[in-house]
Amino acid sequence: MGAAPTPHSRVVSLLAQALPLVAQDHPAYAALEEAHRVAAGLDSYLDDHSSPLIVPSTHAVHEKDVRQVWEDLLAATDAEDWQKRKEEGTTTYALNSGMCSGNYEASVIQQIALAAKSTRVLEIGLFTGTTTLALGLLPNIEEVVALDVEPYLETFDRPFWKRAGVSDKIQTLIAPATDSLRQLKSEGHPAFDLVFIDADKPSYKEYVSLLLELDLLTPEGIILADNTLYKALPWADWSRPDEDARNAGSNNKSVGEATQGIIDFNQFVRNDERLTAVVLPVRDGVTVIRRKI
Ligand SMILES: C[S@@+](CC[C@H](N)C(=O)[O-])C[C@H]1O[C@@H](n2cnc3c(N)ncnc32)[C@H](O)[C@@H]1O
Repeated sequence: MGAAPTPHSRVVSLLAQALPLVAQDHPAYAALEEAHRVAAGLDSYLDDHSSPLIVPSTHAVHEKDVRQVWEDLLAATDAEDWQKRKEEGTTTYALNSGMCSGNYEASVIQQIALAAKSTRVLEIGLFTGTTTLALGLLPNIEEVVALDVEPYLETFDRPFWKRAGVSDKIQTLIAPATDSLRQLKSEGHPAFDLVFIDADKPSYKEYVSLLLELDLLTPEGIILADNTLYKALPWADWSRPDEDARNAGSNNKSVGEATQGIIDFNQFVRNDERLTAVVLPVRDGVTVIRRKI
């Protein structure tokens, strides 16, 4: 399974569907063909002109070996039969390789963590731990606490983190994230200065509320919330819901609930008196959230 749809990939796909239906001598053809070239080339241009994953020269494991682990982790994520894992009961939910944030987004998050000099990171929604690994590589980051509901992911991810020399920095808590947040608070865990929210969309609002109410975010801490443009569904529904939702790797019900969760979350963040936010059109949308200054 490939990458999950983004607003941009939907445009590319729609233009690719429309283009062969328009005769080359039609007045609209040239504009349509140009629009397709512009849109279809963007993602690879971004990839080609952004540095690869940052591997510090001081890192204990050689850069070449870390890059190999990274490639192996992405390949293993793709190769895993997630549907079978669900059917045999190894995972509770149907995960899919499209959940993985991938190269470009990991680089964006690394750059933000470096610029902000983040030290303690909380990741809500771990999956195969690519972002976790990318953040663990940065020398300024002392610890990454990663929350997920699936015990299998700890088993799957840990060997890659060990090979990459970041395992000692990473702690996983396997439970519903709201429980883990309360546990971190009750254990007196210090507040985090970077939080990456990338789990079940209907709970995003609760995660941010809890982070603030439980004082788990430092005063200048940054929250990054992923998928806040959610396949463009908050403002542009599919034209063929069944087929498109299937291609998105989810059923209609969960896509509908996730869309509503993101709509509510985006409104909440925009209107909350405590917060300031900017939505970046990185892949499926990343919102950068801070307390108001
Ligand atoms: C999109 S994936 C995370 C991707 C990962 N952050 C990355 O960068 O590749 C979402 C993850 O959230 C987890 N998840 C879903 N609901 C959760 C919940 N209530 N509490 C904790 N984790 C949850 C899923 O098991 C899944 O692994």
